[in-house]
Amino acid sequence: MPLVHMNDMLHHAYRHNYAVGAFGVDNLDFLEGVMQAAENCRAPVILNLIESHFGHYDFELLMPSVVAAARRAAVPVAINFDHGTSLVSAEHAIRAGCNGVMVDTSALPFSENLRETRDIAAMAHACGVTVEGELGYVPGVEGDSAEEHPGELAYTSAAEAKAYVDRAGVDCLAVSVGTVHGRMRGTPKLDYARLAKINEAVGVPLVIHGGTGLSDDQFRRLIANGVAKINYYTALADAAGRRVRENAAVDRKGGHGALLAGVRDAVRVEAEHCIRLWGSGGRAAEVLAQCRPWQEVEHVVFYNVPSELSESEVAAIMREGKESLKSIPGVRSIRTGRAIQPDGKYRYCWLIGLSSPAAVEVYRNHPAHQRFANKVFRPAAADRITLDFEEIEPQRTLLATLPVSGF
Ligand code: 13P
Repeated sequence: MPLVHMNDMLHHAYRHNYAVGAFGVDNLDFLEGVMQAAENCRAPVILNLIESHFGHYDFELLMPSVVAAARRAAVPVAINFDHGTSLVSAEHAIRAGCNGVMVDTSALPFSENLRETRDIAAMAHACGVTVEGELGYVPGVEGDSAEEHPGELAYTSAAEAKAYVDRAGVDCLAVSVGTVHGRMRGTPKLDYARLAKINEAVGVPLVIHGGTGLSDDQFRRLIANGVAKINYYTALADAAGRRVRENAAVDRKGGHGALLAGVRDAVRVEAEHCIRLWGSGGRAAEVLAQCRPWQEVEHVVFYNVPSELSESEVAAIMREGKESLKSIPGVRSIRTGRAIQPDGKYRYCWLIGLSSPAAVEVYRNHPAHQRFANKVFRPAAADRITLDFEEIEPQRTLLATLPVSGF
């Protein structure tokens, strides 16, 4: 289960002066390429799901694969929701399996950005989820040419950053010190003195957006000044695009499979280069040992109903429950069932998947749960037993514990 708390992972990087790659993934080639890179380099990694990409693929369908890739990984993984547009979209991302969220309200005036971020942090922290805030504005669009989306860069101020981190309660801070999202001509000029002041003022891991196009030396200096997470997408997409064009040049009549051959490897090679450069290679074992595992919880209720209730009345209660409970933050799944054996101790069950142990309290105390439980369910199901389970995985040998060469 090498899903770990993103905050723990970032603090490890921050303390040990390296940065974890938050690689944008938007299909299986990217997901597999990034995971192979992390495993080859024995590196902690963040899988980054960027909301502006959700028009290109079905987030609900990709996320089970992302979670499965993280769970079967031999290195520590966190799953981050990036550039979310609202509190509701952050709740949706947590429901889908993200354990870090960033809702980008950085274009708003300071006080509004602070207020919005505080609300998101309160919701996400109650579910145990890590929160990234952004102050200042990093222009451009991931995957596109930065020149086509010039925007107005707004630098982060150290004084505001301190107030923002303290009052919004974010775990890490995305800063604007001269980077832009997307492909650019030439390398940007970065304001390291500003970054050093921000780092000194806030004392939390800093995040760079717009990792594409920076030089090796720029990355080193960013990391030396507190950057512990680097968001990176366009260069992966460009490496994938180059591979498709090469395939097309070799086989002009090639179908979908021929055109996409080797895309996963192109993504892997680019991600491996970053991992080596940013110093996260070879760190997996320490991170696994020092970070809390990300534990989901199964809230299980077995129950009986009085004999005068018909099957269709029980089904109506289940339907109402699913409808009422599904939007409580931290609820990942709701399943209802009936025992196969008619003479078992209990006839029916609820299986509620919750994102973390912290989310159990959110669920219990939420008005939607209180209303449904007290007014509808409990009166009909006095005979019941309720338990919260976290998963225990038998120990297995992790790649991360094997010796590493080449770092
Ligand atoms: P690039 O696409 O410029 O690498 O930036 C990615 C990013 O910042 C995602 O948040």
